[in-house]
Amino acid sequence: MRHMEIHGKKVLVTGVASGIGRATALALAERGARLFITDINSEGLEETRRLIVEKGGEVCLSKTVDVSDYDAMRELADEVHSTFGPLDILANVAGVALFSQVEDMTHDQWERIVNVNMWGPYHGIECFVPEMVRAGKGGHVLTVSSTAGIIGLPWHAVYAGTKHALVGTSEVLRFDLRKHNIGVSVVLPGAVNTGMVQSVVINADEDACERGRNLFVKITIAPEKVADLIVKAIEKNKYMVITSPDIKLLYFLKKYLPPAYRLVMRFMTWLLDKALPRTA
Ligand SMILES: NC(=O)c1ccc[n+]([C@@H]2O[C@H](COP(=O)([O-])OP(=O)(O)OC[C@H]3O[C@@H](n4cnc5c(N)ncnc54)[C@H](O)[C@@H]3O)[C@@H](O)[C@H]2O)c1
Repeated sequence: MRHMEIHGKKVLVTGVASGIGRATALALAERGARLFITDINSEGLEETRRLIVEKGGEVCLSKTVDVSDYDAMRELADEVHSTFGPLDILANVAGVALFSQVEDMTHDQWERIVNVNMWGPYHGIECFVPEMVRAGKGGHVLTVSSTAGIIGLPWHAVYAGTKHALVGTSEVLRFDLRKHNIGVSVVLPGAVNTGMVQSVVINADEDACERGRNLFVKITIAPEKVADLIVKAIEKNKYMVITSPDIKLLYFLKKYLPPAYRLVMRFMTWLLDKALPRTA
């Protein structure tokens, strides 16, 4: 099994102002990575930069970037490449969430989820990976998908679509990039206690959403736990990282016991429909 030394490696992490991205940037900094950090939220980004530097970590570049904006990502890549050369590790973490029945989704909501969750990582891969390939020094590409990347979770029509796309692309890159000694990981977190608990848009009754958020928090794990798994996945070139045992079980049912999977999914859908009365 491969062991990649993270110390001294140039690593770009998107979505570092909060949650999994921040915890990942801090964990990588602790192992001596040279960090390039970005987020759309300048204040949170600056706070993360401060936390890294305070702990003795190295931030080569910290820049406010919207991952869904191709020109901004291209500009970022040009700046990184012209000053520091190609990256060693790319970590696509930034993302946004939406819970909705399909008939309640506005076009803006469809577009935002696709643009940030799918185009964001695609821009990262498009703008940074070809330089890594040309450099011929190997490396790693890691993308944070979701449980919704392998399971058709209820109320997640567009979110699950984008996250499935990231699994599909990662699977191809896993084999395509092997000849360049570039490893690939796709991370499928279950419930994690991050800023997303509050920022997720839910097209349902407000009180029910609040109750749902409170319940959700109870089954979450800490972002630091996910960051730890991310660092290990990079070091060992582990392809698929599922962060909780319940999701492993559900994925097992999907693959090997489809009738049981169907029953569980129907039950989960019924439960969520009941818990989240629609307002529309
Ligand atoms: N929290 C969970 O339960 C959970 C579960 C599965 C997957 N995920 C995935 O984990 C990743 C990280 O999310 P998190 O849970 O840490 O949430 P979070 O909200 O704490 O962090 C997401 C970060 O992405 C940034 N961001 C949002 N839109 C952006 C844009 N257009 N450009 C650049 N940055 C942008 C936000 O400002 C924020 O700092 C996401 O891809 C999410 O889909 C989270």
